[in-house]
Amino acid sequence: MRKKTVINAKPDLKNAALRKREPIEFIREKLVISTRLRNEANGKNFFIRTYGCQANVLDGQTIEGILMEIGYTQVDDPMNADVVIINTCAIRENAEDKVYGEIGSLKALKSKKPHSIIALCGCMTQQPHIVSKIRETYPQVDIIFGTHNINHIPQLLDEAIFNQTRIIEVYSKQGEVIEDLPCHRQDKAKAFVNIQYGCDKFCTYCIVPYTRGKQRSRKKEDILLECKKLVDEGYQEITLLGQNVNAYGKDLDSKLSFAELLEDVAKLGIPRLRFTTSHPWDFTDEMFKAMATYKNIMPAIHLPLQSGSDDVLRRMGRRYTAKEYCDLVDRLREIVPGVAITTDIIVGFPNETDEDFEKTLDVVRYVHYDSAFTFIYSPRVGTPAAKIKDEISMETKHKRFDKLVKTLAVDVKSHADAYVGKVVPVLVDGLSKKDGTILSGYTDTLKLVNFTGNPDNIGKIVNVKITEATTYYLKGEEVNG
Ligand code: SAH
Ligand code: SF4
Ligand code: F3S
Repeated sequence: MRKKTVINAKPDLKNAALRKREPIEFIREKLVISTRLRNEANGKNFFIRTYGCQANVLDGQTIEGILMEIGYTQVDDPMNADVVIINTCAIRENAEDKVYGEIGSLKALKSKKPHSIIALCGCMTQQPHIVSKIRETYPQVDIIFGTHNINHIPQLLDEAIFNQTRIIEVYSKQGEVIEDLPCHRQDKAKAFVNIQYGCDKFCTYCIVPYTRGKQRSRKKEDILLECKKLVDEGYQEITLLGQNVNAYGKDLDSKLSFAELLEDVAKLGIPRLRFTTSHPWDFTDEMFKAMATYKNIMPAIHLPLQSGSDDVLRRMGRRYTAKEYCDLVDRLREIVPGVAITTDIIVGFPNETDEDFEKTLDVVRYVHYDSAFTFIYSPRVGTPAAKIKDEISMETKHKRFDKLVKTLAVDVKSHADAYVGKVVPVLVDGLSKKDGTILSGYTDTLKLVNFTGNPDNIGKIVNVKITEATTYYLKGEEVNG
């Protein structure tokens, strides 16, 4: 028998795109957990899978924290779970396809444990057409919630379990800043800290401003408090997160700048401080100067280019030209010598010409990126670019993609080669996934290193002599002192 569906709120893309002038609400809320839910969770397990960017990873950690506070225990096999959470990403079609595959395979869990609860959340559920599709095609999904109401998980679970209903609760709104939620960080050396939620840039291809709401900064005191706690707990690395970190503070009364925040966090004494992502639009020299002044701010910057053609950049709504981007890179390298620069590039934006694409290659050859994420444009329902009639074939897009990857690989390899023979500090993550006798970690410039060394040093920063370079990682051996 199909369960009754209760709809508390449905997503609406028009509402999601509204940017009201109302001030952002800061909420400090204690979780409301019913006694019957606590009793129910006792001895029960949960499984969570998170797709997408670091913002989603951090949301996943918050969800873990909430479920643990209710009383559930985390397991790493969904078939052993009583509650399964799929925290989704909507950035490209292939991200969504993976989720449909996973929901399909969870049918087996429902056969094994008919009373298990399957919940879907994250960016995919913020889209009306996806919620309709899930409702109609996947009866095994019991709860659909969004990015704005993670703090309601206890109520949603209570309702789904004790009333035996399906529940949809997805808000499309600018969103609040919700403080004091629990967060379960498995890694004891590296932590993400949100400094800002949402995005107001509305690049014409991108779904994020619709799924994550208005750009809203956390208060500096709250960020510093969280970072201080992490330093006291012995964390070695903090990455400050936001879709456009350099626009931090513009929405706050205090009009604090990102450069000031960065300095204040650096002064807390965390050994490694990183931030991502930076939009080329809101950069200031003060930010670069902070990077040059504080040695614990890592010399690595992720600076998405997207395209090297001014026409495509204009149609993407990126608000900079290729020349402005290159000038920014020059200034950055002047103020922070040796800085590693990485990027994101989209190939095949609607009606991108061969000339447009060549201009992207020109910028790639000019900048000499340390590494890059490359994507084939994927139309997102509700975004302006998805309405453009595209004359470029998929075959052409794939050819361009391959050429771009080859062009980038030349620089990636030569940056890597420059490390051979050097001794560099590496924060040790753990044993390599492929070979259990090899350690892996990252340099200050975010280069992956696989090396022989002492496993007791996992979670610490050690010196590694680089012996070999490949396009994907460096090889080395730990050295003393
Ligand atoms: N806020 C960050 C990145 C967000 S999404 C920024 O602006 O840089 C990460 C990357 O996904 C983007 O930089 C872009 O390169 C890519 N992306 C976003 N929407 C896409 C789409 N519709 N198709 C293909 N790639 C996309
Ligand atoms: Fe998307 Fe652009 Fe916002 Fe980045 S800045 S999240 S690409 S809209
Ligand atoms: Fe994906 Fe949402 Fe992040 S669409 S990339 S999980 S903000």
